[in-house]
Amino acid sequence: MYFEKTNGFPKDFLWGAASAAYQVEGAWDEDGKGVSVWDTFVRIPGKTFKATTGDKAVDHYHRYKEDVRLMAEMGLKTYRFSIAWTRIIPDGNGEINEKGLAFYSNLIDECLKYGIVPMVTVYHWDLPQALQDQYGGWENRRIVDDFVRYAKTLFENFGDRVKYWIIINEQNVFTGHGWLMASHPPGKAGDYKTFYQVNHHAFMAHAKSVLALKELWPDAKVGSSFAYGPSYAVTNKPEDAMAKYDYDDLQNFYWMDIYAYGRYPRAAVAYQLSRGIAPVMEEGDEEILKEAASKVDFMGVNYYQTTSVEYNPVDGVDGMGKMNTTGKKGTTEISGVAGMYRNPKNTNLPTTDWDWTIDPMGLRYACREITSRYDLPIVISENGLGAFDKVEDGQIHDPYRIAYLKEHVKELRKACDDGCRVLAYCTWSWSDVLSWLNGYQKRYGFVYIDREEDENSGTLNRIPKDSYYWYKTVIASNGAEGLDD
Ligand code: BG6
Repeated sequence: MYFEKTNGFPKDFLWGAASAAYQVEGAWDEDGKGVSVWDTFVRIPGKTFKATTGDKAVDHYHRYKEDVRLMAEMGLKTYRFSIAWTRIIPDGNGEINEKGLAFYSNLIDECLKYGIVPMVTVYHWDLPQALQDQYGGWENRRIVDDFVRYAKTLFENFGDRVKYWIIINEQNVFTGHGWLMASHPPGKAGDYKTFYQVNHHAFMAHAKSVLALKELWPDAKVGSSFAYGPSYAVTNKPEDAMAKYDYDDLQNFYWMDIYAYGRYPRAAVAYQLSRGIAPVMEEGDEEILKEAASKVDFMGVNYYQTTSVEYNPVDGVDGMGKMNTTGKKGTTEISGVAGMYRNPKNTNLPTTDWDWTIDPMGLRYACREITSRYDLPIVISENGLGAFDKVEDGQIHDPYRIAYLKEHVKELRKACDDGCRVLAYCTWSWSDVLSWLNGYQKRYGFVYIDREEDENSGTLNRIPKDSYYWYKTVIASNGAEGLDD
């Protein structure tokens, strides 16, 4: 759509930034915390960049007061963070750990002290290792009850103060990496049958948690966050258009349709049945998924890039290509599903050093698609640029990050003008964090953390980057300033 002038952002727009427990907290074995599957996985040789771990991460566990103070000084409206299941219930389904509850209660209070709205993610991938050992974690339906008990513990303890809840972060990513690519726990490759089964369990955990939350706190706002990469057909050949449809049904709508409608896309189910990889569902599941979908308040979107799609012949590439985890441009390999689609590089757009396509308009496109298909409000729960940063005379000049975010925010404003109901924009990430597979050299934050891959490196001191001051201006003016070229 074209509008002569913008209406700007809504009045109580939540300008935010995000983090995740494993990527920032550190203190991996303190105050009764249990071991998570990530604590185990990072210790397997070759799994992470230069064997980096989140043992210490950026020490948010001990420095959260300093971090929240910096957020307040910036004027941040919302802080999205996740809770580590292993701090609350160290073995996943046994005793509650009061010290874990106390940590998050204090963090929430610290945010509220400055008027920062806490936006809490229940699950950002750090499953208790004990559940993996007891019954295979997400592969077993028993996970659903254990997850809901954990989620309810959070709702009961924090629901009086937390009004925004994201149940699961990027279910598509952790299951894809975990069961198709072997790059996240439990490290399995090409196991589509289990992949879909695991996803069904996660959908049920999401749905039952939504219902539990609404029963306790009807006024809470809830959704899950999907890693949404809208797709573009490479050409106007009908087979490329159909490949795009296949891609969307299997890679995008498969998750968003459940969150919004409580049902799987029919073409995806037909495909699964033809291959014998459809998930086993229990009687009543469909009703629960639908009921939860009717109570979801927003679609959470983690937006980083769009994907190009073209037809892939039956003898074409099949599987996920190698990822770039080093920051050496051009080392990503093409992925595809034989007989359906493949995802070549978009030659019209630039990329980051990690080969992620930079496409600000894709963010507007994502909002438009969600608005047209689901008519739900939207929380942008992540968006940001992973880059190498350099300290010069104690300062970090990151014009590339400002340029990236500025263009995305401008497109988001257009999405608002288009009628999309966008409630929040959280950048990834608040400070530099551990990038799961890419170590500490891939930096995303507004706040620089003095540390490298080596656990003993750096002071862990916090230094606001230029982008910190830029975002401060944007927030203070509710997006009226800081966006001009
Ligand atoms: C999302 C995750 O996938 O993207 C974050 O929710 C993650 O946890 C972020 O860090 C950026 O990805 P990466 O691989 O560059 O760290």
